[in-house]
Amino acid sequence: MSNIPSASEVSVMDTFSAIGTRRSIRWYEPNQPVEKWKVQAILEAARLAPSAGNFNGQRAIVVYRDEDPDVWEFISDWSQITTQMAPVLVFWCYDMANYDTQGQSIHDLMRTGALDKAHGWEYDRVSNLFPLPGLLPDAILHRLAAIDLGNAIENAILTATALGLGTCLNGASGGARRNTKAKFALPNTYVFSWLMTIGYPAEDIQGGGARCRPPFETMFFEKRVGNPFPRDPEVISLLEDLNMLQPAGPLPGRLEEINRLTKRFGLGDEWLTDWELEESQLGEVAGDKKFNSLGSDVVQASAAGASADPSGFTLKPTVKRERIQEYRKEKGIGDAD
Ligand SMILES: Cc1cc2nc3c(=O)[nH]c(=O)nc-3n(C[C@H](O)[C@H](O)[C@H](O)COP(=O)(O)O)c2cc1C
Repeated sequence: MSNIPSASEVSVMDTFSAIGTRRSIRWYEPNQPVEKWKVQAILEAARLAPSAGNFNGQRAIVVYRDEDPDVWEFISDWSQITTQMAPVLVFWCYDMANYDTQGQSIHDLMRTGALDKAHGWEYDRVSNLFPLPGLLPDAILHRLAAIDLGNAIENAILTATALGLGTCLNGASGGARRNTKAKFALPNTYVFSWLMTIGYPAEDIQGGGARCRPPFETMFFEKRVGNPFPRDPEVISLLEDLNMLQPAGPLPGRLEEINRLTKRFGLGDEWLTDWELEESQLGEVAGDKKFNSLGSDVVQASAAGASADPSGFTLKPTVKRERIQEYRKEKGIGDAD
């Protein structure tokens, strides 16, 4: 019997809610598997993203932590506990070789009626301009391909959110990049860009509230830079009702949440967050003040009641550089990696 649900059995968030609810999730339920059909849905969404000149260079390699428990080693320092606990990891790449067939991709848009003569599309004109590497320098081609990949990744992320999953993108240091090439047999034309974790959030899906952003007026303009696009309070209120705009973090209880998770997954007291959480200061001119430290009694109290993960899943506390170096030495991973 198929274990694929029917449409009426699936609950999917609407687009506005998914955009508003998405957070970078850094704590996952390590033993709650992600349904394979959801992984496929995420990839299907990535395939549908727009790309410059129908480039379609987005590529992904999906890896399952249970089948490859050390795969988190391939990623940079700050992301190592995130990647240890996520059941599914997606290595996102783009393939520069697609530039060679881009002419065909554009002709295909004409063939299928997406592009028309009225807009200036002609078979020979397209053949003369593509492949683009004959016309544009590599740096520009990489920039285009990376933007396309970003579009695909965001489609994937919103689909995951709409299906109740958490995701986080994770950076790759130079070494991770080299290791990834060998491990996944990436052709030379592939550029590995980001690792995405997928799993059911162990933190609340709100992730402690909407994440800080600079004020709208400093980002978006009308007619000229410096003339803010008018931000209408009634539109804000509408978008709040539609769940796109959500209360900013930190929501009450966030310190307790992250410190209990720290304890639950076996990380010791030294890893408890020990600064006072407060409102974003991104709207202030000189807002980057040092945090207020919390006393150890307050920190301990914030983690009170935490119990060890029932499955015994514990994290390797590799986030300190010296511990990573030790670990890499043990595993015979060289300095350059
Ligand atoms: C391209 C990209 C790379 C990222 N790399 C990391 C990373 O290496 N580690 C991490 O914890 N978060 C990473 N993030 C998540 C960002 O820190 C996060 O998107 C940002 O702080 C805003 O928070 P939000 O996504 O929860 O709204 C990355 C995000 C993007 C888009």
